[in-house]
Amino acid sequence: MDLIIKNGTIVTPLESYVADLAVKGGKIVAIGTGFSEEGASVVDAKGKLILPGAIDAHTHLAMPFGGTVSADSYLAGTRAAACGGVTTVFDYPMQRKGNGIIETIETRKEMCDPEACVDYAFHCIITDLNEGTILDEFEDAVEYGVPSFKCFLVYKKEGMMVDDATLVKILLKAKETGAMTNIHAENPDLIDLNIENFLKEGKTSAWYHYLSRPEFVEAEADKRAVHLAKSIGAPLYLVHMADKEGLETAIEAKREGHDIYVETCPQYLEFTCDVYKREDGRNFVCSPPMKGQESQDALWKAIKSGDIDTVATDHCPFQSYEKDWGKDDFTKIPNGCAGVENLYPYMLSAANEGKITFNRAVELCSFNPAKIFGCTEKGSLTVGKDADIVIYDPNKDFTISVENMHSDYDHTIWEGKTLHGYPVQTYVRGNLVYDNGEFVGKAGFGQFVKRVGRK
Ligand code: URP
Ligand code: ZN
Ligand code: ZN
Repeated sequence: MDLIIKNGTIVTPLESYVADLAVKGGKIVAIGTGFSEEGASVVDAKGKLILPGAIDAHTHLAMPFGGTVSADSYLAGTRAAACGGVTTVFDYPMQRKGNGIIETIETRKEMCDPEACVDYAFHCIITDLNEGTILDEFEDAVEYGVPSFKCFLVYKKEGMMVDDATLVKILLKAKETGAMTNIHAENPDLIDLNIENFLKEGKTSAWYHYLSRPEFVEAEADKRAVHLAKSIGAPLYLVHMADKEGLETAIEAKREGHDIYVETCPQYLEFTCDVYKREDGRNFVCSPPMKGQESQDALWKAIKSGDIDTVATDHCPFQSYEKDWGKDDFTKIPNGCAGVENLYPYMLSAANEGKITFNRAVELCSFNPAKIFGCTEKGSLTVGKDADIVIYDPNKDFTISVENMHSDYDHTIWEGKTLHGYPVQTYVRGNLVYDNGEFVGKAGFGQFVKRVGRK
């Protein structure tokens, strides 16, 4: 054996039990007791939980957006991921008019390969069908290991939005090729109308970011996406769900048996729209914005009931000076916040406090994203899977500060948040990448995860 983790409590979506876990050649090769320790590194995890590494299914690393580029490179973002117990990140390369899907993916892969500290996968954002040739590439993309695409129903002025006809073409082709369509649902025309009116009235603070994109603006697009996907029987994954009405429509469709999945993010579970009234409200500007208490309560209810499938971060940080561009005009604030290092600790802390079980936290952050997105080697502590492992100390309290994070950003919306319990070690394919507060991994160690499609 290369590594034996002894005496810890192994957590799966279904059960928790004390056992030893043995790793060889980057894989979990045995779970039980009494393994020979000869030649192996042995870690005593008595009193600790042994968890599958988290899979953050939604990050934007080095993303050109909002007139700049998001603050975390592939190196910084995946280093932070490792230190938060995330062993695989999904990034979102963006296809642009005139570019193909494989070309887009390969360009980002060339950037990511030398920098990635944990494993990585891609969903490809589609912004233009290139007179139909993009649809012809779906099969190749699935074969390549990228069986998921994303459509923005918003960001019209930025040239990223797809209209409903394009969305339907994408949903149909994705269905035919065994791919998943991920949707960012907000109504751009309503947003633009609200913005125009607010700016005319001199209403320019961050609070108006929320008021220009309130609950019904997201709900309309959520419901439209669900309606279209249901009507043509195509699978659908709604990213960063933040509003009650849209959530309830998606849940109803799921219960009717439609192939619909819902992701939410820690920021929607922790903060409400009240943050936009703060002096530093611009730092919380992301889209969709945090909503009211009723929406947050609905999200937690669905987290507990099993109706939400995944929690991911939408990690897209910007530096303070960039957020400051919007001090006097909320429309100039680059949209996005940090989160990749906080995802697993936040959800596990919620488990530690009894809000959900540790089994559910593991299901939301690891097992379900692996299953939904075809990461066959990942997402659970079972023999034969990659040894992506987190050792978690339920008794270690941790207060988040930009000083103890491992990204390149200079502020975090999570500043001052105390978590009960914290990861103490992270292993990617059996290799230690995080050890008690320190990043100990290597740039370039992370590998591209070739995923399988849905057929
Ligand atoms: O505000 C956000 N979420 N920025 C990143 C891009 C997106 O919409 O996911
Ligand atoms: Zn989005
Ligand atoms: Zn996003």
